[in-house]
Amino acid sequence: MTLPASVQGGPKNFSVRQFGMGFAHGKIILLGEHAVVYGAPALALPVPGLTVTAKAVLSSRPSGHPGDATFTMAGIVPAPAPVETGETLRRIVVDFKKTTGIKVDTPIDIVIDSGIPAGRGLGSSAACARSVVLALADLFGRQLNPGTIFDLVQAAENLTHGRASGIDTLATGSSTPVLLTGGVTREPEVEIDGIFVIGDSGEVGRTNEAVGMLRRRFQRDPQAQEEFLARVSTLTSLAVRDLADGQAGNFGARMIACHAALREAGLSTDRIDTLVGVALTAGSLGAKISGGGLGGCVIALADRPERAQEISSRLLGAGAERTWTVPVGRFARHGHS
Ligand code: MEV
Repeated sequence: MTLPASVQGGPKNFSVRQFGMGFAHGKIILLGEHAVVYGAPALALPVPGLTVTAKAVLSSRPSGHPGDATFTMAGIVPAPAPVETGETLRRIVVDFKKTTGIKVDTPIDIVIDSGIPAGRGLGSSAACARSVVLALADLFGRQLNPGTIFDLVQAAENLTHGRASGIDTLATGSSTPVLLTGGVTREPEVEIDGIFVIGDSGEVGRTNEAVGMLRRRFQRDPQAQEEFLARVSTLTSLAVRDLADGQAGNFGARMIACHAALREAGLSTDRIDTLVGVALTAGSLGAKISGGGLGGCVIALADRPERAQEISSRLLGAGAERTWTVPVGRFARHGHS
């Protein structure tokens, strides 16, 4: 291709392709959300069926400043798009150029095609940020190492969420479940067979509001913080053991207990509580709110596909906007039996 004037003659520490593509996917938090912000363990599961694709091209517009970029949202447009989204995404472009040393003033046009509804605790902001970082790397022919990708996405997440633990950043780029404890990540062993059903309440929850609300509450009442962290840490640690031991029933019980802790912390809503109740009545081994809270999604664990279908249709009947499923164990293996 013919490079724009502002690129030609620049330092040749990169090559420009016609366009760059980046991909990422959604996630759910199985246990430990919010507590993980304070260093407690949390378990996340990738949702590969919810994808985000970003396409980056050098613009034909006249050259601008280092953060000059346009973002067009396609697919499931964030509803309502947070005001700060454009600012955060532009910041990624600036940080990317600074980190890689790529000096290009030509504006960049980025189209983000997202299948992840925003404000539902499904990792939409982290997945969008990751897809943009990868699209920029692809556009400039750069292979970024996982640490650099993490830092760039995490900087955007910290802007979006106020204070982010890093679990969304990791899980939206992982093909396996993620256990994060005190900033250290490892892959948990998953020996349970089941299907996680995700039900979208349709209520938009803002993770940064929820994180801020909890932080203010804990500042006023340090004992509440201690109790919440001890309670949720214990549940998550036991759930990690249940996962490894193939104890789906026990795992479900930890989910129910975790929902109670999150509800008592003021992070659930009436609609979410109703959907959790519906999922349990339909035979779930466990059900809870997932992610940032104050709206968003419920997740429920089914022991087999027929049960997952029943839970899903009952959730839809009770007002859930849509549902998705994520199989684990033998149900995740091709041609399961
Ligand atoms: C959001 O998916 C999970 C939270 O714990 C925030 C974070 O860990 O950054 C609520």
